[in-house]
Amino acid sequence: MRVTLALTGASGIAYGMRLAEALKGAGAKLDIVVTAAALKVMDYEEPGGSKKALARLEKCGRVYGDCEIGAPPASGSSGADAVVVCPCSMKTLSAIACGFSFNLVARAADVAIKEGKTLVLVVRETPISAIHLENMLKLARLGVVIMPASPALYHSPKKVEDQVDFIAGKVLDRLKIKHSLYRRWKP
Ligand SMILES: Cc1cc2nc3c(=O)[nH]c(=O)nc-3n(C[C@H](O)[C@H](O)[C@H](O)COP(=O)(O)O)c2cc1C
Repeated sequence: MRVTLALTGASGIAYGMRLAEALKGAGAKLDIVVTAAALKVMDYEEPGGSKKALARLEKCGRVYGDCEIGAPPASGSSGADAVVVCPCSMKTLSAIACGFSFNLVARAADVAIKEGKTLVLVVRETPISAIHLENMLKLARLGVVIMPASPALYHSPKKVEDQVDFIAGKVLDRLKIKHSLYRRWKP
């Protein structure tokens, strides 16, 4: 499976990092796109900042900046089976909902929609405005998977990593990739 994974400047970079490693571990071929804002958020959220985070991502796949509009994820013929934006900012959500392919992330998502491929957006914001909701509804009606970064509590998480694994696992579920990142509900 070939997957384009984009990290944007929403809080929750850890979800994207975990997902990259889980996808790599599952044998997926990864093209990773990191926006300029994601690099900034990495500096706040990731131990060791963006430098260390990028080094981790480079072990999982080829990493591109959001301005590299000639990179493989920009083309429908490059053969990505799925595009995942995790975390997905409201700005990137808006660009995707409008078909405004101003950077490599919005273009890769646009390509996924036009080619009928799986597109998963792990959106993160709170509270969510009517503009955000309208953008999500528009995309959901096109078959885009809107997956808010809302970790559950029913699996008795002990640490932040358990919550991160839960979200990464839910994305893998949508890509039909087997995993044991979280314990499934058994009443
Ligand atoms: C520490 C930090 C956290 C942020 N968290 C969010 C967030 O959770 N959701 C969001 O939509 N934007 C968030 N932003 C704002 C985005 O980074 C900003 O809108 C940016 O332009 C998004 O660009 P991108 O979509 O190209 O990555 C955050 C910014 C910073 C600095």
